[in-house]
Amino acid sequence: MVDRPNKPSALAATPQQPIAQASVNIDSAAGRVTATLPTGESVDVLLHGATVISWKDASGDEKLWLSEKAILDGSKAVRGGIPLVFPVFGTAPDHAATSKLPQHGFARISKWEFLGKSTSESKQSGSSAEDTNVKLDFGLSSSSLDEKTRALWPYDFDLIYSVTLERTNLVTSIVITNKSAEAFEFEVLLHTYLRVKDINNVAVEGLEDSKYIDKVDGASTKTQSSSITITGETDRVYTPAKGPSEPVVVTEGGKKALSVVRDNFTDLVVWNPWTEKAASMADFAPKDGFKTMICVEAGSVKAFQTLEPGDAFEGAQTLYTL
Ligand code: BG6
Repeated sequence: MVDRPNKPSALAATPQQPIAQASVNIDSAAGRVTATLPTGESVDVLLHGATVISWKDASGDEKLWLSEKAILDGSKAVRGGIPLVFPVFGTAPDHAATSKLPQHGFARISKWEFLGKSTSESKQSGSSAEDTNVKLDFGLSSSSLDEKTRALWPYDFDLIYSVTLERTNLVTSIVITNKSAEAFEFEVLLHTYLRVKDINNVAVEGLEDSKYIDKVDGASTKTQSSSITITGETDRVYTPAKGPSEPVVVTEGGKKALSVVRDNFTDLVVWNPWTEKAASMADFAPKDGFKTMICVEAGSVKAFQTLEPGDAFEGAQTLYTL
């Protein structure tokens, strides 16, 4: 059981003008939590991996890509949405502490606990109108892992993952607390699959002059000269040259579509499997689905972070619709 610190309570609405509250539906049988704002925006989160599998704007437009063959029953990581990578990115056969873990760790394949919801109102800038936001908190702790997984990574920890739905954005933040008597090392990443209309018209801006590791070219280090376009299999780990709060913007047909702002996450992965890799993944559908997705993944993955006993790490990303 994860304790939720500073558990917020719902704020009272002004008596004169009651503000409609967000609705939250918990489907225990399906292991799914859905929140909808009074203005129509919605988010859908599976307890399996605390995976956000849908984020829609007020007109019902889906912002995340989810494979038509994504396995949602808890037997596999979800192919799409926002799987959570922890405590290892990829596999790390040379890193003793995480060498036994499956690809991208256990957080995305573990069953999380729903800790609760909180709502708040905020003023839109330049307007007197008030908006309702809703925050969903999920927890995973070492004590809730099965014996097999604990044996692979024997540290005590608490993870709290918060998914906050606002009218124009979605904030996903994670707090990692070391409850062990010894330090541990970890990597963490929000493996966000963004839905796009046509990958051929997509560019990712804001990473100009950034160094990156090109995983499809022998892990060589390169420097991004201009905006990123996708014309083949792409698997890159960027260290953005601009600060973490500098947005990375996804454009479609030259128009800004969505931006990603990082908080305390030093790295950004850009991934598109393209034809052959998509064909090799059984849960990737349709097979040309790589044309309608791009992964832009905020995290801390270039090097392991050390967390001392009792210490906590917090990182977040905000996705803004533009
Ligand atoms: C990306 C990695 O983050 O995830 C890729 O950079 C990997 O190397 C991709 O192929 C998908 O991983 P998985 O385990 O979900 O198939």
